[in-house]
Amino acid sequence: MKAVVVYQSLWGNTAAIARAIAEGIGGDTAVLSTAEATGEAIAGADLIVAGSPLMGFTLPSDKMVRSVRDNPGNPPEPPDLSHPSMRTWLDALPKGKGRSAAFETRIWWSPGSAAKKISRGLEAAGYAPISKHARFVVTGRCGPLRDGEVEKARQWGAELAEAMR
Ligand SMILES: Cc1cc2nc3c(=O)[nH]c(=O)nc-3n(C[C@H](O)[C@H](O)[C@H](O)COP(=O)(O)O)c2cc1C
Repeated sequence: MKAVVVYQSLWGNTAAIARAIAEGIGGDTAVLSTAEATGEAIAGADLIVAGSPLMGFTLPSDKMVRSVRDNPGNPPEPPDLSHPSMRTWLDALPKGKGRSAAFETRIWWSPGSAAKKISRGLEAAGYAPISKHARFVVTGRCGPLRDGEVEKARQWGAELAEAMR
């Protein structure tokens, strides 16, 4: 089975969750930023797992990411702006045939969802959901992840692999 985990991440929280999910899936599951997840890199994927932070109560756009760049506030470290938003990546996702799962990182009490939109985008490209989407919690505006979330992500990855069997 070819599985890939694709992420957008400004401060590394979503990237850390993506790595843990890939560990849970096992095999040689690739972990790719939205810049690395080219049509060629994901071609023939049986399972695409994709995730992003929840921002402004929704799936962030490139415009929203630019506004973080231009109005950084007081983040612990500069945001990683090396890859496009998940929204842009989904808009350009080539049609395929496989299964999918979506996740988001977020503050626990926030309204809104990024993962629902990711799930819809993956499905529209031909990757039918294999699981309900997952949420992983950060304790502040730019992280860090709440204790236990990385383990939870690993477990979810293992469950996805099981569901694919
Ligand atoms: C400009 C901005 C807007 C945000 N909006 C939300 C939000 O609406 N809901 C929420 O739960 N978290 C929100 N967050 C918190 C992010 O979801 C959280 O920082 C995320 O886990 C960061 O992931 P990353 O380190 O992978 O970029 C926001 C953070 C920033 C910087």
